[in-house]
Amino acid sequence: MMGSSLLLAQFLCLLFFHSHSQPAHSSSNFSSSVQLCPGDQSLALLQFKNSFPMPSSPSTFPCHPPEKVLWKEGTDCCTWDGVTCNMKTGHVIGLDLGCSMLYGTLHSNSTLFSLHHLQKLNLSYNDFNRSVISSSFGQFLHLTHLHLNSSNFAGQVPPEISHLSRLVSLGLSSNSGELMLEPISFNKLAQNLTQLRELYLGGVNMSLVVPSSLMNLSSSLSYLQLWRCGLKGDLPDNLFRRSNLQWLDLWSNEGLTGSFPQYNLNNALSHLDLSYTRISIHLEPDSISHLKSVEKLYLSGCNFVGSNLDLFGNLTQLIELGLAGNQFGGQIPFSLGKLKQLEHLDLRNNNFIGPIPDIFVNQTQLAWLRLSDNNFQGHLPFSLRNLKQLSRLQLSANNFTSQILNEFSNLTELTELDLSYNKFDVQIPSLETLKN
Ligand SMILES: *[C@@H]1O[C@H](CO)[C@@H](O)[C@H](O)[C@H]1NC(C)=O
Ligand SMILES: *[C@@H]1O[C@H](CO)[C@@H](O)[C@H](O)[C@H]1NC(C)=O
Ligand SMILES: *[C@@H]1O[C@H](CO)[C@@H](O)[C@H](O)[C@H]1NC(C)=O
Ligand SMILES: *[C@@H]1O[C@H](CO)[C@@H](O)[C@H](O)[C@H]1NC(C)=O
Ligand SMILES: *[C@@H]1O[C@H](CO)[C@@H](O)[C@H](O)[C@H]1NC(C)=O
Ligand SMILES: *[C@@H]1O[C@H](CO)[C@@H](O)[C@H](O)[C@H]1NC(C)=O
Ligand SMILES: *[C@@H]1O[C@H](CO)[C@@H](O)[C@H](O)[C@H]1NC(C)=O
Ligand SMILES: *[C@@H]1O[C@H](CO)[C@@H](O)[C@H](O)[C@H]1NC(C)=O
Ligand SMILES: *[C@@H]1O[C@H](CO)[C@@H](O)[C@H](O)[C@H]1NC(C)=O
Ligand SMILES: *[C@@H]1O[C@H](CO)[C@@H](O)[C@H](O)[C@H]1NC(C)=O
Ligand SMILES: *[C@@H]1O[C@H](CO)[C@@H](O)[C@H](O)[C@H]1NC(C)=O
Ligand SMILES: *[C@@H]1O[C@H](CO)[C@@H](O)[C@H](O)[C@H]1NC(C)=O
Repeated sequence: MMGSSLLLAQFLCLLFFHSHSQPAHSSSNFSSSVQLCPGDQSLALLQFKNSFPMPSSPSTFPCHPPEKVLWKEGTDCCTWDGVTCNMKTGHVIGLDLGCSMLYGTLHSNSTLFSLHHLQKLNLSYNDFNRSVISSSFGQFLHLTHLHLNSSNFAGQVPPEISHLSRLVSLGLSSNSGELMLEPISFNKLAQNLTQLRELYLGGVNMSLVVPSSLMNLSSSLSYLQLWRCGLKGDLPDNLFRRSNLQWLDLWSNEGLTGSFPQYNLNNALSHLDLSYTRISIHLEPDSISHLKSVEKLYLSGCNFVGSNLDLFGNLTQLIELGLAGNQFGGQIPFSLGKLKQLEHLDLRNNNFIGPIPDIFVNQTQLAWLRLSDNNFQGHLPFSLRNLKQLSRLQLSANNFTSQILNEFSNLTELTELDLSYNKFDVQIPSLETLKN
């Protein structure tokens, strides 16, 4: 405890030491190295950094700051941690202050906004104390990357963001929950940011944005993150057909309807999360045959209409499969045993019945297996012993019976084991006992 606060104190000293030194940019050349960084930009950086008081408590930050190289007046700012310069002009073109314990309001008169040459700006994982995102961000006309996620911004996303027509990647996710993107701003953004390849808007309130306007986003888009955005209404199924889209994350938009296409899917998707939406899913042999590149598929709490669960066994490239909370009933699909690459399998809360067949024989990569809250009964499958990588096993709230002492003795990676609310007839050994 003492050790860590000492470390923190040292870190803060490093970070804020410069505030005690003399202004230096006004005068001559500095001793050894060539000074690349223009004085006005180095001053702007220092003033920006100084405008944030020391945080009262480091625990409010969503990350642990790494130790940073001293920002010290009189040294070339191009050598400072997080600062990147154009080697020819010396202009500051990159600023990565992600996870830098910046705390306080980011005002629109901040000297940050005088760094007009910036191409990449990362202010993620700081605490801007519910600042609004200033319209001044719209002045960074050279920006290709802007990351402001997990930084406690609030209010409206300014429509001026749409001026940043060179943006390739925009991250605004995981802010205060009070960050709002209005339809007019979204539509401008969709129209003007034609280079956009990555858009992270998880947790941004977009409840007034019409899902069909998502189709106006750049055709280059390959990452689209829209979890818990309050989207409502019909999602055009053509969104799933966009040929560049690899990563689509829509979980927890409970008002989102529409249907997952049964034919003519694009085959670029490698990550798809439709959990806790009302998008209807009717898996057909044809749709499955177009999902051959999906490695991470999350369809928990979904609106399944008459799908043949055996088809999941054909997605042999799957690494993660989440199907919790779908009340499927019946037997666990035997075909799941064909998924040899699988690392995570979540089948909780599905009313599955009967003994679990020996499907795990070939799943040597499986690390997380979640089977809680079903009606499984009988012995645990023998093949569970083959899962040498298994680290989390959740079996609670079923009707499993039988002795289990030996079942787990070969599972050396196991760190979480939940066997509660079952009918096991032997005292359950603690994990410590198992590991010895
Ligand atoms: C800085 O150094 C350059 C050459 O290295 C020289 O031409 C210039 O006059 C110096 N400037 C000052 C203010 O000393
Ligand atoms: C921004 O900073 C955070 C925290 O250091 C880091 O995790 C993230 O990868 C950075 N983002 C980019 C695009 O560099
Ligand atoms: C953060 O916001 C709170 C509530 O608005 C305010 O009392 C506090 O002074 C702010 N802190 C800083 C450093 O701006
Ligand atoms: C910037 O604006 C804030 C709030 O309007 C004000 O408190 C602060 O003094 C201004 N800073 C400068 C350097 O003008
Ligand atoms: C679109 O981008 C251009 C170029 O940056 C800019 O001049 C224009 O104002 C932008 N339009 C909107 C609607 O933001
Ligand atoms: C924050 O943005 C980065 C891109 O810079 C993205 O990779 C990451 O997933 C985002 N983090 C969260 C929590 O959304
Ligand atoms: C999102 O914004 C709408 C409209 O302003 C508001 O009614 C709703 O409560 C907000 N949702 C959340 C989760 O804050
Ligand atoms: C898509 O953009 C066009 C203008 O380019 C606009 O007229 C249309 O309303 C937008 N579509 C949606 C669904 O917002
Ligand atoms: C699914 O796999 C089975 C057996 O491996 C095969 O007969 C069937 O044609 C496959 N279906 C699709 C749609 O790929
Ligand atoms: C395991 O793999 C073998 C050989 O490929 C195969 O014959 C067997 O059916 C597989 N077992 C299961 C449960 O999928
Ligand atoms: C377990 O079996 C009993 C009857 O033997 C039944 O009442 C109970 O609902 C079952 N519990 C679960 C979680 O399936
Ligand atoms: C544990 O693994 C060893 C060797 O891999 C094997 O001989 C033994 O039968 C296994 N024990 C159980 C309980 O599966």
